[in-house]
Amino acid sequence: TLRVTEFISANDLASLMDVSVNDVISTCLSLGMFVSINQRLDAEAITVITDEFGYAVQFTSAEEELEVEEEQGNDVNLQHRAPIVTIMGHVDHGKTSLLDYIRNTKVTASEAGGITQHIGAYDVTTKSGNKIAFLDTPGHEAFTAMRARGAKLTDIAIIVVAADDDVMPQTREAINHAQVAGVPIVIAINKIDKPSANPDKIREALSKNNILVEEWGGKYQSQEISAKTGKGIDDLLEKVLLEAEILNLKANPDKNASGSVIEASLDKGRGYVATIMVQTGTLKVGDIVLAGAHYGRVKAMFDDTGKKVNEAGPSTPVVLLGLDGAPQAGEKVTVMETDREARELAGKRSQLLREQSIRTKKHITLDEIGRRL
Ligand code: GTP
Ligand code: MG
Repeated sequence: TLRVTEFISANDLASLMDVSVNDVISTCLSLGMFVSINQRLDAEAITVITDEFGYAVQFTSAEEELEVEEEQGNDVNLQHRAPIVTIMGHVDHGKTSLLDYIRNTKVTASEAGGITQHIGAYDVTTKSGNKIAFLDTPGHEAFTAMRARGAKLTDIAIIVVAADDDVMPQTREAINHAQVAGVPIVIAINKIDKPSANPDKIREALSKNNILVEEWGGKYQSQEISAKTGKGIDDLLEKVLLEAEILNLKANPDKNASGSVIEASLDKGRGYVATIMVQTGTLKVGDIVLAGAHYGRVKAMFDDTGKKVNEAGPSTPVVLLGLDGAPQAGEKVTVMETDREARELAGKRSQLLREQSIRTKKHITLDEIGRRL
């Protein structure tokens, strides 16, 4: 049995079967198929050809082939790691304000229209001395994919609901993302400083969405807070840490890092800039990283306050410089041993992406119509 990925080239298939590519081409010809050396073969062609040479085939997906095996075996040094906590909820319910209060910053003030349009990643040490990595997500309905990614990367979700409003569409969507990702939820009922706040109404609305809070005999921890005055926020953080303790999160800081892309873009002065959440291992300046279909040597790293750092351990968000392009949010980041290995995998992955985008392209060009006629 031959393990083959679909769309392998005729040449590569020949070497897999240990025959000359000319044999493959002439066999194809005798079967009425015109095939050139570098032509990529679809599943049907592969099945016919391998059968002709006496092989059974098993298809593996190209993505599978391009996965980097996680370093195994040296996970003896598992150490406690900080929880990664994603803040989700309906637009304007106070997610960024909550983080601003916790971090003593004013991110909301600098946002266009007061609306978050990306995922922010922050490193926080609570008053009790515990570290938490926070992801701030946009609440606007347009950013569903970003919320889904945020929920996937996270250990715990804080769902913020404004007490002067209601359980809204993106509240429900956020709850759903967290549940699909199997992530524990802590409810923050925000804006309780407002005269129009009605936390009981929120608890009731939540119960109708199958989220019964502890005060009402359910299993979900919740906390009334004000991101404006700070009321209840320390208690909220303690509840999050309690949830983290139950999860007993561990990672080995002593191996090569792996993590996920939170966002990436091209900066005029600095080149490609990527925000990464390190999940295991320690990422260091000088490391060779593969991030989706891109790679590079880490030139410099910065923490969430813009300060230069030389390394970043598990559950730490960092901004890194040195990639040869902008990977997609959500893609895996892996440290590779050699530059060559990283370049090859990145190259194969970008080729795969190109082919996939051609195959899924909905519009047929005039040129293609011409060729079909
Ligand atoms: P998106 O990121 O766009 O989804 O919004 P958000 O959830 O991050 O809300 P944001 O923190 O931007 O707050 C929205 C508005 O609510 C701002 O005007 C805040 O000042 C206000 N706000 C947030 N929290 C509180 C609070 O606890 N009390 C009061 N009174 N106002 C609040
Ligand atoms: Mg926001």
